[in-house]
Amino acid sequence: MRPLMIVRALLATLPLVSSGGLQGLRDLVERHLPMHSREISFVLREDNHTLGASNDEYMVRCDAGTVNIEGNSVIALASGLHRYLADVAHVDIYWFTGSQLPRLQALPACEPLKGSSIVSWRYHFNTVTFSYTTAFWSWEDWEHELDWLALRGVNLPLAWVGYEKILLETFLDVGLAQEQVFEYFSGPAFQAWNRFGNIQSSWAGELTISWIDLQFDLQKKILKRMTELGMTPVLPAFTGFVPRAFSTVFPEADIVNVSRWNGFSSEFSNVTFLKPSDPLFTLLQKSFLRKQKEYYGNITHIYTLDQFNENDAISGDLKDLGALANTVWQSLKDADPDAVWMLQGWLFFYKADFWTRERVKAFLDGVTDDNDMLILDLYSETYPQWQKLDSYFGKPWIWCQLHDFGGNLGLYGQVMNVTINPVEALATSPSLVGFGLTMEAQEGNEIMYDLLLSQAWSSTPIDLPQYFHEWAKTRYADTSGRDLPGAIYETWDTLLRTVYNNTDLISTFSVPKSIFELAPNETGLLDSPTHIPTKIVYDPSTLVSAWRLFLDAADTLPSLRSNVAYQFDLVDLTRQVLANAFYPLYDTFLSHTNLTSERFDNQASLNAATYAQSRMLLLLTTLDNVLRYTPSRSPESSLISWVNAACSWQYSISCATDSIARNAVNQVTLWGPNGEVNDYASRQWAGLVGAYYLPRWQIFTDAYLDAFRDQVSVDQTSLGAKLLVWEKNQQEGQLVQNMGELRNPEELWDTVRIIEKEWCDSLGC
Ligand SMILES: *[C@@H]1O[C@H](CO)[C@@H](O)[C@H](O)[C@H]1NC(C)=O
Ligand SMILES: *[C@@H]1O[C@H](CO)[C@@H](O)[C@H](O)[C@H]1NC(C)=O
Ligand SMILES: *[C@@H]1O[C@H](CO)[C@@H](O)[C@H](O)[C@H]1NC(C)=O
Ligand SMILES: *[C@@H]1O[C@H](CO)[C@@H](O)[C@H](O)[C@H]1NC(C)=O
Ligand SMILES: *[C@@H]1O[C@H](CO)[C@@H](O)[C@H](O)[C@H]1NC(C)=O
Ligand SMILES: *[C@@H]1O[C@H](CO)[C@@H](O)[C@H](O)[C@H]1NC(C)=O
Ligand SMILES: *[C@@H]1O[C@H](CO)[C@@H](O)[C@H](O)[C@H]1NC(C)=O
Ligand SMILES: *[C@@H]1O[C@H](CO)[C@@H](O)[C@H](O)[C@H]1NC(C)=O
Repeated sequence: MRPLMIVRALLATLPLVSSGGLQGLRDLVERHLPMHSREISFVLREDNHTLGASNDEYMVRCDAGTVNIEGNSVIALASGLHRYLADVAHVDIYWFTGSQLPRLQALPACEPLKGSSIVSWRYHFNTVTFSYTTAFWSWEDWEHELDWLALRGVNLPLAWVGYEKILLETFLDVGLAQEQVFEYFSGPAFQAWNRFGNIQSSWAGELTISWIDLQFDLQKKILKRMTELGMTPVLPAFTGFVPRAFSTVFPEADIVNVSRWNGFSSEFSNVTFLKPSDPLFTLLQKSFLRKQKEYYGNITHIYTLDQFNENDAISGDLKDLGALANTVWQSLKDADPDAVWMLQGWLFFYKADFWTRERVKAFLDGVTDDNDMLILDLYSETYPQWQKLDSYFGKPWIWCQLHDFGGNLGLYGQVMNVTINPVEALATSPSLVGFGLTMEAQEGNEIMYDLLLSQAWSSTPIDLPQYFHEWAKTRYADTSGRDLPGAIYETWDTLLRTVYNNTDLISTFSVPKSIFELAPNETGLLDSPTHIPTKIVYDPSTLVSAWRLFLDAADTLPSLRSNVAYQFDLVDLTRQVLANAFYPLYDTFLSHTNLTSERFDNQASLNAATYAQSRMLLLLTTLDNVLRYTPSRSPESSLISWVNAACSWQYSISCATDSIARNAVNQVTLWGPNGEVNDYASRQWAGLVGAYYLPRWQIFTDAYLDAFRDQVSVDQTSLGAKLLVWEKNQQEGQLVQNMGELRNPEELWDTVRIIEKEWCDSLGC
């Protein structure tokens, strides 16, 4: 056996899951296909796994109206089922538009379908997805997600929910008071960064004990379901970050305040860190992991643990780094002899200047058994680190697509990078053991996420035109069995060749924002001020044509108008087309209010600028209106659904004044008490566009028009301050009061037809 096979096989067999047999999968079938549960059978071949076969395999056979699936793991069986459902029966389950499985009538016949994964792990989630996407999810939302994951063959999901319950108990046990721990916890929409040790405490909405208990109950259900479905959850561990008051209880403890994060004041940042070299660290680790196991059972040995994610390492000395990693590792092993330490590899990219090869090597070498670590190469499609770091010097690692930051919405993908590169990496890197999705938020662009998970079952790069064709076919299929209009396939082919085939990784390296989501400014908006791209790297008029073609498809097949996937995508395309159209209006407005250029005919310039302003604001009104028709089952699809989901966790008279609503709003607007990460998590959502971005642009353009009338230049400082004051005022319930209502998607198509007529001139139809 070559060494690479040994590494892969070991990691595949080591962290066994206490799989609950086939019941979980049968329940999944019962949830989505109750009419067919007797016609679908599963056979689990346990033999292969115990022999250490590192990959999953399935075989689907259709026989006289029944579907028989055989496989070597529960997740292999789920993957086989999905292959049959999506590729043969043309029904699937989607994040936003829900499960289309129940509409399957008779089970179609199939040729035998054989599949085998090319990597043993398929991973899902980023620590911050638990705040940007799932923060306010109910159990129903989670059930849906877990079925989505199972059918797509994910066997290694991260599972952060409910962390605070166990951490709180761990601290209470060693003598901290509940208030002292609560001073440390951040609000419900910001827990991810508290868990990372980037921030502490709360500036908008406190964490309550009832939130902690309810999240804990939710986690128990999530973990039970994950294991039933054959997944190995990745659970948290004790990181070393402690409440400020820790030193009053343990005056001798070896603690340090870590670096400030993103300009937050030390009240909310500079989190206190208990050095792993202090024996208290191991004590707390053991206590934490013991409690966790008592509550959840012996369900995993893989633990996520990040201490320097966007924090400075506490020492740059090679020996210190190795010693620290060694101690952290030993603390895990002391608590669980089979422990594997999973690390989000973001730090090696984000602080690449600090994390030189020597330092990374010294750090990773601290864990002397390679198989006790698992690294997520977090941003492999754009900034892979594994080559530079010699495949993490032998530590097993996972090739991950990050794709989205902060839940920003924009049609986007790097189809070539997520098909060709992982296959190449597998051929090149001996310690690559999985493919994964590490999006900051599950924002849309579902095809890009499906693509990488599909690639995990194909040893050659996926044929993209065919994949897009089949994907569209299944997505819009209805019970009538009618062929879809060619326009649908043409649209998706155009999308493949434009928005989804970005190759300009310098300008655009992830889902782009639109400039209208950023605090208005005459400069900087096109230069990615938030380190998120805003540049449009394809010809916008090509997208306009695709949009119109897509709209026309419902003339050929009118039933599309009430097809939920078609409705969702029609909103999405309209959103992108209108968002792109904001750019030229912004340019026009600025050029007509520019005192230093061509100002000989002021009245004409003023008229032109005033007109440009009205178009900008009308465009945002139009966009906000169309977004209200989004048919979506997920809370993270409008300000209205986001805030309502948050409020459903708290019970007070008015959602607008609920502290949890303020917390939810703050994340997608100011992100911090003073706009520390302002607009980072901006979303092109109904409610937010109309009640937040629009008035902000009104203030900005009014100020420019006033200054132009007075023939003076705009006072940037006072306008900036005015905007910030306005933004802060929105936090106290104002935005929630103004966010409005959702509309009936059945009326969407006619609305878009009107938009097409009214805007075609500006869009360059
Ligand atoms: C937990 O599971 C592992 C197998 O992964 C097993 O070796 C160990 O004995 C189990 N521990 C307990 C306490 O059941
Ligand atoms: C799994 O076992 C079956 C027989 O039960 C065998 O045909 C197949 O080749 C095995 N696969 C692997 C990867 O060992
Ligand atoms: C950490 O910061 C707090 C608040 O500024 C301060 O009181 C404390 O002394 C600092 N602790 C250490 C170890 O520097
Ligand atoms: C917070 O961290 C910054 C460096 O990032 C440092 O300059 C400052 O002194 C720290 N403050 C506290 C209270 O630890
Ligand atoms: C992604 O693909 C482009 C071509 O499509 C290529 O130029 C680039 O090197 C790839 N990026 C990475 C990070 O591999
Ligand atoms: C994507 O763009 C690259 C570079 O322009 C081109 O070579 C490739 O054929 C395109 N792929 C698709 C699927 O359009
Ligand atoms: C105003 O015009 C001047 C001269 O043409 C140009 O340098 C400047 O960038 C313009 N300002 C804006 C905000 O467009
Ligand atoms: C626009 O951005 C510049 C550079 O960051 C800043 O100095 C200026 O105050 C900003 N203007 C407004 C109105 O916020």
